[in-house]
Amino acid sequence: MIRICGDLIELQTRSTTYLMRILAGGQLENVCYGRRIDSLEGCEFISENFDYKLTTLPYADEEHSRCFPERLLYEYPTAGRGDYRTAAIECVYSGNLTALELRYRSSRIFSGKCNAFPAHALADESTQTLEITLADDFARLAVRLYYTVYEEEDIILRSAAVVNESSAAVRLDSAASLCLDFSTDDFILHSYDGAWARERCEETRKLLAGITVIDSKLGCSGNEHSPLVYLEREGFDEVWGVNLIYSGSHRQLAEVSPFGKTRLISGINPSDFEYWLEPGETFHTPEAVLTYSSSIEDAAWNFHRFINKAIIRGRWKDRARPVLINSWEACYFDISAARLSALADKASELGCELFVLDDGWFSTRRNETAGLGDWTVSADVFPQGLASFAASIRQRGMMFGLWIEPEMVNKDSRLYEEHPDWLAAAPGRKPVVCRHQHILDLTRREVRDYLFDSISEVLAQCSADYVKWDFNRTFADCAAGYNYRYVLSLYELVSRFVSRFPDTLFECCASGGNRYDLGMLCFMSQVWTSDDTDLYHRLAIQEGTLAGFPLSTMANHVSASPAHQSLRTSRIDSRFDVASFGLLGYELDLCALSPADSEAVREQIAFYKEYRPVFQYGRFRKLRSRDSSTVWWSVSKDDVTIVMQYVVLNQVHTGRCDRLVLPFAGKDKTYRITKRAVHIDPASYGSMKNAYHRAEGEECCMTVSGSILSTCGVALPPQFMGNGFFPSTRVIADHGTRMYIVKEVR
Ligand code: DGJ
Repeated sequence: MIRICGDLIELQTRSTTYLMRILAGGQLENVCYGRRIDSLEGCEFISENFDYKLTTLPYADEEHSRCFPERLLYEYPTAGRGDYRTAAIECVYSGNLTALELRYRSSRIFSGKCNAFPAHALADESTQTLEITLADDFARLAVRLYYTVYEEEDIILRSAAVVNESSAAVRLDSAASLCLDFSTDDFILHSYDGAWARERCEETRKLLAGITVIDSKLGCSGNEHSPLVYLEREGFDEVWGVNLIYSGSHRQLAEVSPFGKTRLISGINPSDFEYWLEPGETFHTPEAVLTYSSSIEDAAWNFHRFINKAIIRGRWKDRARPVLINSWEACYFDISAARLSALADKASELGCELFVLDDGWFSTRRNETAGLGDWTVSADVFPQGLASFAASIRQRGMMFGLWIEPEMVNKDSRLYEEHPDWLAAAPGRKPVVCRHQHILDLTRREVRDYLFDSISEVLAQCSADYVKWDFNRTFADCAAGYNYRYVLSLYELVSRFVSRFPDTLFECCASGGNRYDLGMLCFMSQVWTSDDTDLYHRLAIQEGTLAGFPLSTMANHVSASPAHQSLRTSRIDSRFDVASFGLLGYELDLCALSPADSEAVREQIAFYKEYRPVFQYGRFRKLRSRDSSTVWWSVSKDDVTIVMQYVVLNQVHTGRCDRLVLPFAGKDKTYRITKRAVHIDPASYGSMKNAYHRAEGEECCMTVSGSILSTCGVALPPQFMGNGFFPSTRVIADHGTRMYIVKEVR
């Protein structure tokens, strides 16, 4: 609901209220955003009153001498007129002027939303959008602020459009998608940081005086800092979450002012940005997604529901995603039709539904130094052609998928020989190299046309059911404003592919999760989370990812032991348990599995298919109890089925009893708790042969009231403590797991 009432503007979702006020001087103030307010009586007392004399602070004019810009809470702050905090917009006009002051001009409410930025959220006509126009009549610049309200999901979508109303070009140096000013300074910032193989691991820090910046200058949303951040108000159950629908360099900035206020800004990173706004032209920022709730877990659920509703689109929206086998860690570049066929035989026998042919299938691509850019099938690998190989996969009852990396070129390629000038690089300067490859200049139409035509031909030839779109290096040598233009060109290219192949399932990848963002998710329904499939590392990576992105977007694979990224050994059942929360795949040489592990995989896939809706579309919750264990739950949409995973991080002899408590269980319901059967290789117990037999007998079947489950919970059987076994003893070593199924009895 959106209401404009005099000088007050109110947005309301199911559980939140967002309140703005137009001040006497025309400034647009953020009054508050938080828990829903049902009566606005007395709301004039919410804002700080400036009934005092502050001789050191500037004010706009004598008429409003008690309105200090430095102490106001703005919707879209500017620089140079008395507010010394970071501005939402910075520009240079009339030669060298930079001061801006935006005053309220008009507002309107309309059905649907503004879709001017190419990667945007969807909304039907029942969704309302508020447009507020602010303007600086001296600079002759206007800013339109957009607020789209997703009532059920408790989401407010924000963006801005900058309009040059003057007769000369204006240089835009920054234009944030969102600014949120808070009246207090007691916040903890949660961000999702890392690098290759440790993407989106949560970091928290208390905000102190000054500026904290979380950003990417990589040219993609990046694995170093996700655009997803939360501010948590210390000591209160209040959390604000922001994510960005953008895939390039971004910046999230939190500033604590000397006057006890906090400002959060999110948008394109100004560090490599500039845009020349011609007279009459409008610049649209990407959209920012905003939510408020009492905990990160609840706020994340708002994001999950919003993403599944308004970001994911096309044939695979809300659909069951296939269990896949990927050739990469099974074969790397050592592929041949015969080897892949053997892998496909085994995969289909065990229940896989999609065979993904990863890197190495084209041109001279026998290793990572050559071939990128030449999108023709290698006759060495596929003497009968790719179409016939794809057909043989379908005969085995699986879908066929293909890896591509369109944005790149190796110097050792025909494409580079023919078009050395197609690189995204500074003319005349030796380009920075990464993984022996270079980024193609997608801002050139002829480059995009070449990629679209050559790759489409292959995809059509083999009727690809799935495409893994990879991107394995970051930007360097680029001119100011280039990254923004590149990202728009990328969206144009991707949308051509998606329209040409509407039934194909596209998965976004970038050396693992280097481009896991809402921009790419507007075009591709899922993302390869991380190249690191070590189950212990994956706990942090998947938890961090789920803080902002739903299970239905997060691809996880069971890979070999020892893990190729960590050399950690683990049981195949534990690897499955962790990988099953999200989109399950296998990425190992299935032909090399022992008969026992093969059997285990067959059972895993059957189990996953049975509970697929819970794993892919359920509500994720977690509990890290001490440092010794982690518990994950996924609750089905209808609340009937709950899958719970228990992971032992570190075996400690505390003698503690593990309890299964489900605070969200229905009090008037009854539940049956069972355990997923596990098979334990006796060899893993060395000389303790008995343990194996007892572990096999580890039974669990309880029928319990929701009232008990949601309060004191039930005791799980005790864990092995170094001596003695009983039939119910749970024998779980470090990084071992157990999966429990809790089902409502009806
Ligand atoms: C990086 C990806 O993250 C991997 O899964 C794999 O596709 C390789 N690229 C192939 O080069």
